[in-house]
Amino acid sequence: MAPSLQELARPDESTPQITQSALENTPIKVPQRYLMGPGPGNAHPRVLAAQSLPLLGHMHPAFFAIMDEIQDGLRYMFQTKSKYVCLISGTGHSGMEAAIANMLEPGETIVVGNNGIWGQRVCEIAERYGGKVINAEVPAGAALSLRKIEDELERNKPAVLFLCQGESSTGAHQALGGVAEACRKHDTILVVDTVCSLGAVPFYGDAWGVDCMYSGSQKVLGAPPGAAPFMLGERGFKKLKNRKTKVASWYFDLNMILDYWGCFGPKRFYHHTGMVSNWYGIREALGIASEEGLESMWERHRRLHLRLWEGLNELGLEPFVEKEQYRLVSVNTIKVPEGVDCLVLCKNAMDKYSVEIAGGLGPSAGKVWRVGIMGYNAQLTNVELVLTAFKDGLAQQGFTKRHQVASKDVPSPYEGAFPENIKS
Ligand SMILES: Cc1ncc(COP(=O)(O)O)c(C=O)c1O
Repeated sequence: MAPSLQELARPDESTPQITQSALENTPIKVPQRYLMGPGPGNAHPRVLAAQSLPLLGHMHPAFFAIMDEIQDGLRYMFQTKSKYVCLISGTGHSGMEAAIANMLEPGETIVVGNNGIWGQRVCEIAERYGGKVINAEVPAGAALSLRKIEDELERNKPAVLFLCQGESSTGAHQALGGVAEACRKHDTILVVDTVCSLGAVPFYGDAWGVDCMYSGSQKVLGAPPGAAPFMLGERGFKKLKNRKTKVASWYFDLNMILDYWGCFGPKRFYHHTGMVSNWYGIREALGIASEEGLESMWERHRRLHLRLWEGLNELGLEPFVEKEQYRLVSVNTIKVPEGVDCLVLCKNAMDKYSVEIAGGLGPSAGKVWRVGIMGYNAQLTNVELVLTAFKDGLAQQGFTKRHQVASKDVPSPYEGAFPENIKS
């Protein structure tokens, strides 16, 4: 006979009536969607399968071997030989917070390249960690020129410079050439956000002299959200070791996280429970990326970005990022034409085609649609589906007819740029 609730409770604990759960006999149901917004994207089926493998203990040697494989894969993605690579448990923001918490000490100056919401958030995080924040702002849709970066470094001699390679709120691509050299002159640590860009555009951690970088799992890597790929270069590690103050966040203290990841020798420190199933998925995603190869991934994303813009241009739509050199291939921002309701088009795309097209964020809110071409979703069929959804959504709002008249004299800027035999 089942024990009474009073028998199960400890002495003096009350046993009120149990409230019922709504989940009885209701297994989870998830609709199938094409996630063509700025993320998360759809995960590769191999990644989803890997996540359903049996759990291991987070301190088991068999799991450590998988963590070692993840580090190998990360070194490839980051193009680094650094020992100090790991996953931070948490989404892209956890990488962002870990970077600032560890690289900046209270009272130190940080120059934040701010061309969208991610720069704004880093300003806010750095302030909370006691930094003196210099907000190096440029208009949404632009990126910082090397000249502007050099001027800011010269004027402020900061301990840290933050740049976001792929600004997903505006669709801008921040070039990184020459930045590390400028940082070296002032002993400045270079921190780079690659959450939306890693794997879609070239990134060379060592050759470009990046001292600290973080990314996201749910974008180009094509894994579920939940872990931030992370790297400290030699200079970043030296900065960590030479800190005068303790890292203010216990959970994000890299001294302990890197110890768990075996960066200081075979004896590992229990810092927190590794995200076992999530990391299996990332291990598989890194394997898939290694099989395809970075050059092929970069080229696939570029070609599909060009195809998307060829199609959008035919529909009379224009890029939010005016200068082509600043356009990010992974997150494309598309100006909402006057008289067209952005959200009505998004809703039609979802209801009719099960395809996610997102609206703007931060400085681009209400002004743009955002289309992600990332990782497993960077396939020609998906891009064509997005174009179909746009065509239909615009026609519904009467935009096609107006445009057909106006567009006759406007040649596509991508004419001839897109190879006919694209492989996806
Ligand atoms: C460039 C960039 N940085 C940081 C983040 C934050 O990542 P998350 O939402 O996974 O915490 C995002 C999310 O879209 C991003 O695009």
